[in-house]
Amino acid sequence: MANGSHSLRVMFMTLVGAALLLIVLALIAVWTGAMPANADAAPGRLETWAAKRSLHATLNRDALGLKSPLSTNDSILTQGVRLYGTYCAVCHGTSDGKASAVARGLYQHAPQFAKDDVTDDPVGVTYWKITHGIRFTGMPAFDSTLTTNERWTIATFLARQDSLTPGALAAWKALPSSVEVKKSE
Ligand code: HEC
Repeated sequence: MANGSHSLRVMFMTLVGAALLLIVLALIAVWTGAMPANADAAPGRLETWAAKRSLHATLNRDALGLKSPLSTNDSILTQGVRLYGTYCAVCHGTSDGKASAVARGLYQHAPQFAKDDVTDDPVGVTYWKITHGIRFTGMPAFDSTLTTNERWTIATFLARQDSLTPGALAAWKALPSSVEVKKSE
């Protein structure tokens, strides 16, 4: 009996010791800069896994039930294209599918929607991402800079990007390329 409780106590102290050691090592990594703060370092596997897993769970909880208040017509889609050109194209590109210098410098790759669109995602999920942004990435939150209506308008355009009305398609093709700077070396 006495022996049993002794070995339990040893096990408990070992666990506490190991946990403390991990915390101290993590603090040393932060303090000495061993944890990279630069955007051109590849993010670690743990960071990538945690960011993806928690985004997935957050979207399931908060975004799946969101319903658009807008109907989809040529005028809404065309407005969506214009707003996209102003606020999003610098990172997500225009119809030529070429990534800008800003997009190429992001360490979480910003999908170029001309090639890699989000038409399969529920419109509410895209609205949520525009509204709240995506933590650990360059994707900004637009809840304090765009109105609810503007955010739904852009989300509506992205949901229908593969089946635009003629006016919206012409506006999309007319957005200027977001590539202004060529890499010189
Ligand atoms: C400063 C750069 C930047 C700007 C500006 C930006 N985004 Fe993003 N966006 C990103 C990055 C980086 C990601 C990738 C995040 C990730 O890896 O999860 C992203 C992801 C997304 C996604 C998810 C894509 C997918 O495949 O799941 C959507 C949708 C999106 N952005 C829409 C927009 C819209 C709409 C705008 C404009 C209102 C916008 N973004 C503006 C950088 C940006």
